[in-house]
Amino acid sequence: MVSAVNVLGIETSCDECSAAVVADGEKILSNIVASQVERHAPWNGIVPEIASRLHVEWIEEVTAQALNRAEVTLAQGIDAVAVTNRPGLIGSLLVGLSYAKALAWSTGKPWVGVDHIMAHLFAPLLEYDIDFPFLGLVVSGGHTVFCRVDSLEAVSVMGTTIDDACGEAFDKVANHYDMGYPGGVALDRLAESGDADAFRFPSPSLHKGDHRYDVSYSGLKCAAVNQLDNFRRKGAARSLENIAASFRKAAIDMLVSRVKKLYEDTGIDRVVAGGGVSANRYLRRVMTSDPLLKVYFPSMELCTDNAAMIAALGYHHLMRGECSTLDLNASARVSDFRRPYP
Ligand code: KG4
Ligand code: ZN
Repeated sequence: MVSAVNVLGIETSCDECSAAVVADGEKILSNIVASQVERHAPWNGIVPEIASRLHVEWIEEVTAQALNRAEVTLAQGIDAVAVTNRPGLIGSLLVGLSYAKALAWSTGKPWVGVDHIMAHLFAPLLEYDIDFPFLGLVVSGGHTVFCRVDSLEAVSVMGTTIDDACGEAFDKVANHYDMGYPGGVALDRLAESGDADAFRFPSPSLHKGDHRYDVSYSGLKCAAVNQLDNFRRKGAARSLENIAASFRKAAIDMLVSRVKKLYEDTGIDRVVAGGGVSANRYLRRVMTSDPLLKVYFPSMELCTDNAAMIAALGYHHLMRGECSTLDLNASARVSDFRRPYP
């Protein structure tokens, strides 16, 4: 029997400190996620300096737990290391990257730097058998990406946000209205009991040429924030739940309309969603009830940041012979995922 290839994944791109062991790029042996949410809550947002310092404090213990849970040791049972090196908060990325380099260097094991957004995109492959080609929708705190995926190596970005990311808009609006922290989750929860038709928000129209699959969230974000005066004047009838529901509908409908446009243009009906916003209840309901689309959402554990998706994608890089060297740096941004307008 050929033994499995076990990859240790390390993820510290934002505010989750995570380590995981994945066998053959498909079987999760462990996936430890230590969330820093409580430590950033007093500031209603992620403080980069706190995030990187906590990663330094936690990474060793989190990795030890991942190895323990998988019943392996670094020396015996781990074949390679994969680590997020882009995109993300630079200080946070550097902690995981330096740690992974040290592990690989000291044990002589191969290692590879992994793109966090690509890892979100392929995370559902850990849970479902999905045929290529498919359409990808990655929506997180920093990215909103629509793509066509023909294989693990052939990903064409078809559309992105031209300004703010969808998750960021959720966070900012939630923060402005004091809905709770983390904002996206709190707003989504409130919206469940609100009337989505109570407020009307603009839907940007960029449906031309190269930008036909792009989205924009800055106008919607401003419109929602500017409703505050209106909201106060009209009193209790205009509830927080209603503004949450109306904003959520506008923000998510924009995503769904671009996915449908891509489906109409390409004929590809398989859609794979990933990233923190793919946990959104309304997005899940609307997409899964569309009879024309076959949509794959990752489980909640694999929607948000986790090292299992890094280990899984790292495995495929390593199998193609793509190993990183110690001069690899961290990158806060990846140019393909953002573009200016026009
Ligand atoms: O993928 P992720 O965990 O981290 C990044 O790579 O950014 O995504 C975090 C983002 C945050 O903006 C958060 O507010 C948003 O995902 N988010 C949600 C929900 N859960 C998390 N947005 C809307 N509805 C949710 N249920
Ligand atoms: Zn993420």
